[in-house]
Amino acid sequence: MTVIKKVLVAGASGYLGRYAVNEFKGRGYFVRAMVRNPEKLKTAGPHGEPAVYDLIDEIVTGDVTSPESLNGVCKDIDIVFSALGLTSPHPQYTSYDVDYLGNKRILEQALAEKISRFIYVSVFNEDKMAEVLSIKAHELFVADLKKSGLSWAVIRPNGYFSDMGRFFSMAQSGHIFMVGEGKVKINPIHGADLAKVCVDAVDGESREIAVGGPDIYTFREVMELAFNACGKAPWITSLPLWLAEGGLMVTGLFNRNLADLLSFAVEALKFDHIAPAYGTRHLKEFFAELAAKKP
Ligand SMILES: NC(=O)c1ccc[n+]([C@@H]2O[C@H](COP(=O)([O-])OP(=O)(O)OC[C@H]3O[C@@H](n4cnc5c(N)ncnc54)[C@H](OP(=O)(O)O)[C@@H]3O)[C@@H](O)[C@H]2O)c1
Repeated sequence: MTVIKKVLVAGASGYLGRYAVNEFKGRGYFVRAMVRNPEKLKTAGPHGEPAVYDLIDEIVTGDVTSPESLNGVCKDIDIVFSALGLTSPHPQYTSYDVDYLGNKRILEQALAEKISRFIYVSVFNEDKMAEVLSIKAHELFVADLKKSGLSWAVIRPNGYFSDMGRFFSMAQSGHIFMVGEGKVKINPIHGADLAKVCVDAVDGESREIAVGGPDIYTFREVMELAFNACGKAPWITSLPLWLAEGGLMVTGLFNRNLADLLSFAVEALKFDHIAPAYGTRHLKEFFAELAAKKP
């Protein structure tokens, strides 16, 4: 008799989380999704990530900043997959509250239920950005996970196509302000390709898996691709790094949480982000899909 494994997907309403739901379901798992707002799952996300409501076996509503909402979230679960994180500024909560404390609360639930494996999504090049608060929060959790005694996998992606989508939106407006010369390189990955790596990580030893996509671009090339997809001539203005850092300091005076998240973006523009290549989907096609969708 085949035993159906049960997975909890935390962050199931996010860009990666939805593709993970899709991938786990496609491989025959029973999927429990933890989300704040189940309604969100009924429609596609802003970067083409699928509506997954009808695929999910069980939806639980939970907010990691409210510990009591997580009680029992891992009951009868075999695998926990968390792509849960703070990716836009919140007036009250920081990366520490969500990425660290929030995921730690899920880990506590997982430990109480004796699950068999915990897969967590952190970031690539974390050692080069160790002082950035959002990276610190991810890595505090990774340290706790490694010490927990559970079998684990830590996925370290460099950048998602959804993140590159920001350049597409700016290109649509006709102009992009670029920090630096745009020579830094990255091989970003599509959520569907990354989800395959995440689900493959269910099996095998506890390990860290660095992940990038199939094509390497400079940031300037990404922006040019975005302009081409919109049918607009590239208009890119380069701002010196010191100006962006100064801007961050000023932002920090009136919005600390926004400055903390932006500091990741500025820090990340200082070196290449080329991770081992996975997947088959290309950024040019992703931008073409966004262009076809948007008026
Ligand atoms: N984007 C990138 O290029 C990139 C690169 C490397 C690593 N990462 C990491 O990968 C992870 C997933 O990224 P993503 O782009 O898929 O993020 P995303 O689309 O913003 O999704 C984040 C998920 O976390 C959930 N969440 C946030 N705060 C929560 C809370 N208090 N309680 C419960 N759920 C909460 C969100 O729920 P709602 O839908 O309700 O907001 C959403 O489901 C993040 O940890 C990110 O740091 C991202």
